Amino acid sequence: NWEHVEQAPPDPIIGVTDAWRADPDPRKLNLGVGAYRTEEGKPYVLRAVREAETQMLADPASNHEYLPISGNADFCRLSRTLALGAGSAALQEGRVATVQALSGTGALRVGAEFLAQHLPASNPRVVYLPSPTWGNHKTIFAKAGFQVREYRYFDKASRGLDFGGMTADLSSAPPGAVLLLHACAHNPTGVDPSPEQWASLLQTTHDRQLLPFFDSAYQGFASGDLDADAASLRLFAASGMELVLAQSFAKNMGLYGERAGALSVVCRSKAVATRVESQLKLVIRPMYSNPPMHGAAIAARVMGDPRLNAMWKEELKGMADRIKAMRSALYRELTARNAPGDWSFVLKQIGMFSFTGMTRPQCELLVKKWHIHLTLDGRISMAGLSAATAPYLAEAIVDVVTS
Ligand code: LMR
Repeated sequence: NWEHVEQAPPDPIIGVTDAWRADPDPRKLNLGVGAYRTEEGKPYVLRAVREAETQMLADPASNHEYLPISGNADFCRLSRTLALGAGSAALQEGRVATVQALSGTGALRVGAEFLAQHLPASNPRVVYLPSPTWGNHKTIFAKAGFQVREYRYFDKASRGLDFGGMTADLSSAPPGAVLLLHACAHNPTGVDPSPEQWASLLQTTHDRQLLPFFDSAYQGFASGDLDADAASLRLFAASGMELVLAQSFAKNMGLYGERAGALSVVCRSKAVATRVESQLKLVIRPMYSNPPMHGAAIAARVMGDPRLNAMWKEELKGMADRIKAMRSALYRELTARNAPGDWSFVLKQIGMFSFTGMTRPQCELLVKKWHIHLTLDGRISMAGLSAATAPYLAEAIVDVVTS
C-alpha cells in the first residue's frame, strides 16, 4: 500500500539536530536549532522552572486529569497579561480570547485555521510573511488554506531592514489580508524595526486594513526585559485594532519539549471574545482534544508566584546577556583573524540568531569540513556558542568565506 511513498527531505531546522547527533567528530557544534545552551554546551533548566516543578510534584492534590479544551485558565490569563501588559485596555475590557496551544507552532496553526474559517467572506485568504522568515510559517499558513505572499524585509547589502521595500509591499496588500509580524528578535535575521518604524508600520497596517498576527517566540530574549520585548505588540494593541497573537514559552522559560504556548485573539468587545473562544475550541477538539498540562502548569506557577517570577526575570536577563557576550566574542575572534568584510552586524543583530550572509555552499563546507551544523540559509544560533567554541567557529568561518 505504501510502495509509492517517497522519502521526504529532512526538516531544514530540526534535521540539523539529527545530523549533529549522527556526526561522530568530537569537535562538532550544533548551531542549528534555536535552543539555549550553557557555557558548557549543555541544555539549561531554569532554577525557577525546576522549583515550580518540584512544588507541583510535591503537591498531594496534583493529578493527571484532562484540561479543558482551552487549556489551563491561569496559564492563559497570565500569558496574555505577560504579552499585553497589565495596563492593557483590551485586557481590562475583557475582550481577549485566549487558549493554551502546543507552543508557538500550535498557536500559529490553530490561529491560522480559525482565521481561514472565520474571517469575513470578503477578506482574502492571503497572508503576508517577511522575506525571509522562520521556515515553518509558510507551511503552517498554507496547510490552513492561505495563499502565502512575502513582503520585503531583509536588505542583503546593509544586512539591515529594507523598510522602504516592506512599506511598499504592505501598502499594496489587499485590504483584509493577514500580516505576520515577529514581535521581536526576528527569526532568522535578528533584525527588528526601530520604534519609529513600528509606529509607521502601525499606520500602514491601519490604512490598508490588514490584520496583524504577531508571532512572539522570544519575549525577554531580545533585550533581557519582558516589557521592552513586547513594545511592538503593545503599540498595536493600544491603537484599539483587532489582532492575533501566538506566544511560545520554549525559549524564554526553556520549556522547549513541554510545548507550552498560547493563542490570543484581541477582539472589539467582550461578547465577541466569548464567541471567538468558543470557536477556537471547535478548532482544537478534533485536532488534539485538549493540551498537555505539565509545561503550562510550570509556566503559570513561574508567572504567578512573585518570588519565582523575580527569579525567572533574573535568569532571563542572564541568558540574554550570555548571548550578547557570544556576539562580542565571535566578532572579536573574526576581527582578530582578519575576516573579510564588515562583521559588525554580528553585534547589532537581536535575539538568538545571527544571519551571516554565508552562501549555501559555504554553509555546506562548514558542516562537512568543520562539523559545525547550521541551517543552510547561513543562520547561526548564538545561544549554542560558548567562550571555548567561539575561536573555532571564527576560524571555520574565515576558512569557508575565503576558500
Ligand atoms: C528555530 O527556529 O530554530 C526554532 O524556532 C525551533 C523550531 O521549531 O524551528
